[in-house]
Amino acid sequence: MKAYYSLMFMGVVYFICLGLLTFPVIQNNAIYLHKLQLTWQSDLIRPEQFGFAKNQVTPFFLNTTDGESIFAWHVLPLGTYMHHREELAEQETGVATDPVSTKNLQLLKDDPEARLIIHCIHGNAGTLGAGYRPVYLRSLSAAHPSKIHVLAIDYRGFGLSTGTPSEQGLINDGLSAVRFAVDQLGISPSQIALVGQSLGTAVTFGVAESLASQSPPEELGAVISIAGFSNLKELLLTYRIGGYIPILAPLRGYPKIQKWFSNFVVEPWSSVTRVASLVKNSPNLNLVLIHAKNDYEIPWIHSDLLFVHAASAARKTLEGEDTKMKISDALDAKVLTSYGHESTLATWPEEMSNGRRISQWLVRWGGHNAVVTSASTAVIVARALGL
Ligand SMILES: *[C@@H]1O[C@H](CO)[C@@H](O)[C@H](O)[C@H]1NC(C)=O
Repeated sequence: MKAYYSLMFMGVVYFICLGLLTFPVIQNNAIYLHKLQLTWQSDLIRPEQFGFAKNQVTPFFLNTTDGESIFAWHVLPLGTYMHHREELAEQETGVATDPVSTKNLQLLKDDPEARLIIHCIHGNAGTLGAGYRPVYLRSLSAAHPSKIHVLAIDYRGFGLSTGTPSEQGLINDGLSAVRFAVDQLGISPSQIALVGQSLGTAVTFGVAESLASQSPPEELGAVISIAGFSNLKELLLTYRIGGYIPILAPLRGYPKIQKWFSNFVVEPWSSVTRVASLVKNSPNLNLVLIHAKNDYEIPWIHSDLLFVHAASAARKTLEGEDTKMKISDALDAKVLTSYGHESTLATWPEEMSNGRRISQWLVRWGGHNAVVTSASTAVIVARALGL
C-alpha cells in the first residue's frame, strides 16, 4: 500500500512539473537553463582559471545587430602560442576592449592558412567555462599544432552576455560571431567551420542556413554537428536530463497525451527543416554529423534523421522538389566504412548529392558530452577542415 501511495505521489509531482512547463516563461528557463551558471567560483575574464596558458585566450564582447553584447573567447593554437609566448604574455589581461588589435587576433588575421572553428559550445545551462567546455576548446584546437583557432561564445542570457535566450536570438548571436570573423578580421567564410554540440547544433544549423539563404549566399568551409537532434518536440519525447530524468518519455504508452503536451513547445528548433534548406542553398556544402553510439541523452537515431533530411534535400536538387524518398531507402543508400569496432563513417553517394558532401560518423564511445573531447572527434574535425 505504501509503495502505491509513493508512486501516486511521484505521478502527481510529475504532472505538476509538466503542467508548469506549459507556461512559456517557465519553459524558456527550463530549456535554456541559462541562470544555472555552474562557474560561480571562477572568473570568465581570467581564462587561466580554466586551464589555459596566460593570454592564450582573449576574452571580449561581440556586438549583435539587435544591441546585445555577447561574451566570447578566442583560443590561440598552442603551437602558435609557444612561438610567440613572450610577446603574448606581456599584453594586458582581462577583457580586450579592442580585440582586433591584440597580438592573438592579429596572428589569426595574418595567417591565410589558419582555420577558424566557431563553436556553439552550449548545451543548455552553464557558461563557456562550465564542465567539459574548456576541454572541448583545447581538444579541438589541438588537432593541429598551429592552424586551428577557436572562437566560442556564451549566447545572450548566459554568463556575462546581456539579454534573454530565444531561438532567433541565439541564431543572431552565432551570426554575429561569423560577421566579426569575416568583416572585422577578414577571414574567408571557407576558412570557417561552424561546430555545435547538443542544443548548439540547432544554433549551428540556424546560422549556416541563414548564411546560405541570404543574398549573396555565404558558404562556410564546414558545418559540424556533434550529438544533434531533429527538432525540439521530437527530442522531448525521448530526452532524459543528464541521461536520467525523463520529460515526456514516461508517457510513451499514451501518444495522445504526449502529443498534447508537446504542442505547448513554444520554439520548434527544427534542425531537420533547416538542414534541408541548407543543403538546397549550398552547392559546396561540407556537412559532418558526429554522434556517439552510447549517447543516452540524445540517442543517435536523431543524427540518422538529420542525415536522411539532408540526403533527401540533396537528391531533390537533382531530381526536382517532388522527389520522394523513404527513410529506409535513404538509410540503405548510405555508403558505409567501418573503422574497427570504434566508429562507422556513412556518406551519401556522390551521384545523388550534386556536389554536396554529407557524412555521418557514429563513434563507439564518448556519450553525450565527452565525445567532443575525444581524439577521434578532433581527427574528424581536422579532416573536415581539410587538414
Ligand atoms: C562592441 O561595442 C563596444 C562599445 O561600442 C566596443 O567597445 C567594442 O569594441 C565592440 N566590440 C567589437 C568586437 O567590435
